[in-house]
Amino acid sequence: GNKIRNAKLVLLGDVGAGKSSLVLRFVKGQFVEFQESTIGAAFFSQTLAVNDETVKFEIWDTAGQERYHSLAPMYYRGAAAAIVVYDISNQGSFTRAKKWVQELQAQGNQNTVVALAGNKADLVETRQVQIEEAKTYAQENGLFFMETSAKTATNVNDIFYEIARRLLQG
Ligand code: GTP
Ligand code: MG
Repeated sequence: GNKIRNAKLVLLGDVGAGKSSLVLRFVKGQFVEFQESTIGAAFFSQTLAVNDETVKFEIWDTAGQERYHSLAPMYYRGAAAAIVVYDISNQGSFTRAKKWVQELQAQGNQNTVVALAGNKADLVETRQVQIEEAKTYAQENGLFFMETSAKTATNVNDIFYEIARRLLQG
């Protein structure tokens, strides 16, 4: 049948990793070079059809700045899915992503589908995080992993689609 499934989704990750840019690409099909740093959090919604079902994502795009860290539990508690984002050209952002995964595993919901997004995949020339390193980390921690680019749109719809598919399966 034509069911609509609501799914709360949260994006977590370091300042500048590209959380807002991924959401803007997914929801509006746009990219801006000078995306402003998020204050607090921003809300978006977008539907995605998977076979004969529809997932309506209720997306919380959180702020990566450390001063907003204490707000994060409000957004990841009760989330059906989380995307932890890092920037492949910034090793520090990968370290921060691992901290978010730890926090989700310790404080979050066991059933949350967690995706790891290695964003800015277009920046191959300044890559600091190897694909294999991230893939291994994701496997060891039960996450699914994709490299994405909000700039070129590579794997952006795909990561949301894969989350939707897993939510409908589970
Ligand atoms: P906070 O809101 O501060 O936590 O940052 P954020 O994770 O939302 O990052 P944001 O989307 O604001 O992106 C930061 C910068 O990186 C912006 O200047 C974007 O244009 C740029 N950016 C985002 N995604 C990509 C990408 O895939 N490739 C490239 N080259 N730049 C990107
Ligand atoms: Mg942002």
